[in-house]
Amino acid sequence: MGRVSGKVALVTGAAMGMGKSHSELLAREGAHVFVCDLDVAKGEEVAKGIVAAGGKADFIKLDVTSEADWNGAIARVRDRAGKLDILVNNAGTLILKPLHATTNEEFDRTFNVNVRGVFLGIRAAVPLLKEGGKSSIINISSIYGIMGAPMAGAYIASKGAVRLMTKSCAVDLADAGIRVNSVHPGVIDTPMTKDLLYTDEATRQAVLGPTLLKRPSRPEEVSNAVLFLASDESSYVHGAEIVVDGGYTAN
Ligand SMILES: NC(=O)c1ccc[n+]([C@@H]2O[C@H](COP(=O)([O-])OP(=O)(O)OC[C@H]3O[C@@H](n4cnc5c(N)ncnc54)[C@H](O)[C@@H]3O)[C@@H](O)[C@H]2O)c1
Repeated sequence: MGRVSGKVALVTGAAMGMGKSHSELLAREGAHVFVCDLDVAKGEEVAKGIVAAGGKADFIKLDVTSEADWNGAIARVRDRAGKLDILVNNAGTLILKPLHATTNEEFDRTFNVNVRGVFLGIRAAVPLLKEGGKSSIINISSIYGIMGAPMAGAYIASKGAVRLMTKSCAVDLADAGIRVNSVHPGVIDTPMTKDLLYTDEATRQAVLGPTLLKRPSRPEEVSNAVLFLASDESSYVHGAEIVVDGGYTAN
């Protein structure tokens, strides 16, 4: 019996990196996973891989910045699975620039994906999440939603917004039986950080910074926190933030 057996999950940004890993772990633990992403080829591959491994998955093309895409995705989940128990707002984008050098277009793009995408997802999914009466929303923020860092002004502001959107939704949705929590990864080895971690040693060390475990995390190490928040094991965890950063923020 898997830890999320019988549950239905929707994961955004699921074609690669952590979203792929969250989808695969939730499916391995018994959930029917709707793998959602802009990238059709890679997203379909993830869903096929899950099915080939004996799990349950469907791919949906979803641009998180599009209200129409969200409405279509939720309708599809309702048709195909009849319910939704877990929403993982994982899709995100990173621009490496200090805020004062960020263009309007870069700022808007960052907020559109990282903040508006989460807002649209929550608004579209809440009616279906409510029907189950025991659901979980997991928003992927970052340690850079808690603290500052160089060269990522718009990103950090957007992830701070995700952290507090999570708290406000926890207040508003408690009575609806929907738990809402955020996850704050540190330095994770994904396509997003590939250039930073594998170009030269000096950049890798600068990015790892004060990480006490002295290595980047594997995506699966963050997925374990997502699985916990998705499962009934976290039934009293609500409005919380789980930091998965190898000790970065402790140092
Ligand atoms: N990698 C890290 O070190 C790190 C650390 C902290 C937080 N995070 C956050 O974790 C989440 C996942 O990061 P990752 O490193 O796996 O990223 P990634 O860049 O490796 O993958 C992101 C995925 O999101 C998809 N995506 C981008 N824009 C989208 C949109 N508008 N609609 C739908 N899908 C879209 C991409 O196609 C891709 O599949 C992001 O929110 C990121 O900000 C990452």
